[in-house]
Amino acid sequence: MSIKKRGVCELEVIDLAYGGKGLAKPDGFPVFVDRCVPGDRVRVKIVKKKKNWAEGKLIEFLSRSPLRQAARCRYADFCGGCKWQQIPYDTQLDYKKQHVVQSLAHIGRLTHVPVKDVIASETVFEYRNKMEFSCSARRWLIPEELADDTIAKDLGIGLHVPGTFDQVIDIQHCDIMPEQGNAVLAHVREFIRTSGLPAYHLRHHTGFWRYVMLRHSVARDQWMVNIVTRDKNLPVVTRLAESLVDSFDNLASIVNNITDARSGVSTGKEEILLHGREVITERLGRFEFEVSANSFFQTNTRACETLYDVVARYCDLTGNETVLDLYSGTGTIPIWLSDQAARITGIEIVETAVADARKNAAMNQVDNCEFVAGDIRDVLPQLEKTPDVMVIDPPRVGMHKDVVAQVLGLGSETVVYVSCNPATLARDLEMLAPGYAVVEVQPVDMFPHTYHIESVALLKRR
Ligand SMILES: C[S@@+](CC[C@H](N)C(=O)[O-])C[C@H]1O[C@@H](n2cnc3c(N)ncnc32)[C@H](O)[C@@H]1O
Repeated sequence: MSIKKRGVCELEVIDLAYGGKGLAKPDGFPVFVDRCVPGDRVRVKIVKKKKNWAEGKLIEFLSRSPLRQAARCRYADFCGGCKWQQIPYDTQLDYKKQHVVQSLAHIGRLTHVPVKDVIASETVFEYRNKMEFSCSARRWLIPEELADDTIAKDLGIGLHVPGTFDQVIDIQHCDIMPEQGNAVLAHVREFIRTSGLPAYHLRHHTGFWRYVMLRHSVARDQWMVNIVTRDKNLPVVTRLAESLVDSFDNLASIVNNITDARSGVSTGKEEILLHGREVITERLGRFEFEVSANSFFQTNTRACETLYDVVARYCDLTGNETVLDLYSGTGTIPIWLSDQAARITGIEIVETAVADARKNAAMNQVDNCEFVAGDIRDVLPQLEKTPDVMVIDPPRVGMHKDVVAQVLGLGSETVVYVSCNPATLARDLEMLAPGYAVVEVQPVDMFPHTYHIESVALLKRR
């Protein structure tokens, strides 16, 4: 079959690729098609054609895969949030494991690494403790909304339609956040709709309302509401906060982050506290953590405990070791390991996260952890002694190559690498290969219904 740009063809989807897309291979030539699962027969239009692969846009299903199950969420076919709801959870886990194995082999040329079965998430809905909804002056209508003339198109609060940067689906119910979040979101939406102030226009960079960020504490069943606006308008956001407090009795924190940055960041240049405290308190195991609006905290609280158990098992500490935790966020890994090691140092670039980490250590009576604020690239060269164990949990982009060189130079006996991106995991493990052998990789699912997978790799110095 010849695959030509703008051509239309019929394909059988045979696999799921990392990134979540279905994969067809007519005459061995890979064609990726979004929103498809193995077993689907589809008619597609080829929208991108490269030398070794192509991308097709779904026109219609000729027949649907027997693998499919009904999605719980009405936005599942359109929203960029969780694209795999139509796939049974066990099958999702099989594909996630396969993606880790394939990334290690194809990107990192690591073909003999034992990859364990994925540890499943205890809950597969209502598991996300943080959701960030964009406010947009351009609402994208799902098919069932198209016929409704009463819907105003100049306000959408929700998640982006994949492939567009300025249009959002107005998400009135999100199944992966705890149920009450939907009521809080509906309240904020109604306030914004009648506020007389426009939502942000992502193309023109005008408008007021930018994001509604919700954080939930599983331990306390409390919420943080972070209203992100382009400008400062204290009377309006104060009225919003008061109306929220009147309606919900478990709001621990309401803050207003203000940013006129054109890029899609929700971190404010200024933060105003409107109600309660600047932080929300969560518990992991026996430790409590205070998390502020702009600090990183693992988004699936229960699965995070499972992840940290794996990290602790791989660290295999006796109580006498020194540990260095790179990319330490709010200090959760150092504190989790605190009673198993002699001394732990965390390095983190976000100052508020480091401040949270210090407070969290003190709050938990942990006195053997210290936290250094700064870019790891600058801080690592100042380190004088080689730690016995290094834990590395970088963001999706993985480690900077200078940091890889610094880690190799330090030469700790054990390195435990935590990754939310199999591609950068594989790339970084390959770069570390001259100094470290990969003993085992344990994937842990923290993001049901998405293609995302967290992995923990145990590395030993050669
Ligand atoms: C995946 S999170 C891990 C956080 C923490 N280990 C946890 O489990 O909650 C990555 C963290 O790396 C931080 N970070 C990103 N780039 C950094 C850099 N160049 N130097 C130091 N920290 C960085 C981010 O702010 C974020 O807190």
